[in-house]
Amino acid sequence: MSGENKKRIPLFDLVLEQAAKEEVHACLDSGWLTSGPRVEMLEKRVAEFLGMEHAAAVSSCTTGLQIVLSILGAGRGKEVITSPYTFAGTIEAIMHAGARPVLADINPSTLNVDPDDIERKITDKTAAVVPVDIAGYPCDYGRIGALCETAGIPLISDSAHAIAATYQSQSVPHHTDTSIYSFYSTKNLTCGEGGMVVSKHKELIETIKLLRRHALSVSTKERSDSGRAGYDIHHLGFKANLSDLHAAVGLGQLTVLEKNQCERSRLADRYREILSDLDQFCELPGQRGEYGHGWHLFIIKLHLPRLRIDRDQLLKEMLDYGIECGVHFQPLYEFSFFRDTLALTEEQFPQTSAVSKRVLSLPFYPGLSDSDLEYVCDTLRNVLTKNSN
Ligand SMILES: Cc1ncc(COP(=O)(O)O)c(C=O)c1O
Repeated sequence: MSGENKKRIPLFDLVLEQAAKEEVHACLDSGWLTSGPRVEMLEKRVAEFLGMEHAAAVSSCTTGLQIVLSILGAGRGKEVITSPYTFAGTIEAIMHAGARPVLADINPSTLNVDPDDIERKITDKTAAVVPVDIAGYPCDYGRIGALCETAGIPLISDSAHAIAATYQSQSVPHHTDTSIYSFYSTKNLTCGEGGMVVSKHKELIETIKLLRRHALSVSTKERSDSGRAGYDIHHLGFKANLSDLHAAVGLGQLTVLEKNQCERSRLADRYREILSDLDQFCELPGQRGEYGHGWHLFIIKLHLPRLRIDRDQLLKEMLDYGIECGVHFQPLYEFSFFRDTLALTEEQFPQTSAVSKRVLSLPFYPGLSDSDLEYVCDTLRNVLTKNSN
């Protein structure tokens, strides 16, 4: 295929709604760009969307998780259990809070952390369990919740991917102590950058609202509105507030979140329908029972013994046809810093090790046209068949 005519289908694509552009303009016109009324409005609307009461906007999911762990005392001398199959942000937050990350192996079928391995890894030093809802698929909150409750350990989910996920028909924070979402550019709901901490515990949310702005006892907005200059600082704070400018993007995008989720779900069904005859080559994602998929990513798992090429070669061949695929995720033990600092080896995580070589994310976003999706499927079929054993 000639370079000029080559189709180009990205892994993610963002469509910024007119409502987001208008909200950003209104924010610029208001002259108030840092945290203020739009952040408050976003907190209220996201909490409503999730059916929860308490939410604190933060500058990112990573920082939100770090602050929550710090408040819970998950610092030096403590351990936090999470998954090796996640983005670096999860483990960075744990390490910055000062705790030692303890990684539990995953269930290869869901790609989420395995409750049995969490149970084996709980010790008297465990200060929190941080499961990750990979691709938007909720973790087994029934089992993990019961384990945490018995051991008296807070359950804090990294729900960066999972704004629309449900477990037993309710959003994830109904089943955790606290959940943290990401509003990074590629996420189902975006502010460009940002995150939201959502919790049953009102006091925790109030503490985050204080700590995120250097723990200043009176916020900039309150000082501006009241004309009072003074404040005190009672705690060591963070710089982790979300700006109104970012919140404006989120408020606009939130108006189409439900519509976008319907479209993601339809695209997932379409992929599953068209690719259903390729079951000798790959396993497709789906949802079952009480797990409501939040459809952030569409991750297939290759049956490598049926192929003459590995996943990375397949990824490259797809790219030759203009289709950008992805790998979610490279396990944490593959990165030299985490491997060396935490003495991690692949052998410690047999399930993660086996399945992570098989995963391939296909292009997946609400603006993906049916004809482009069909092109991705046809190309995948051709590449797999051509390279079959
Ligand atoms: C599983 C997971 N956790 C945390 C993060 C970090 O999110 P943020 O960029 O908002 O800090 C990401 C980002 O992609 C992620 O995929």
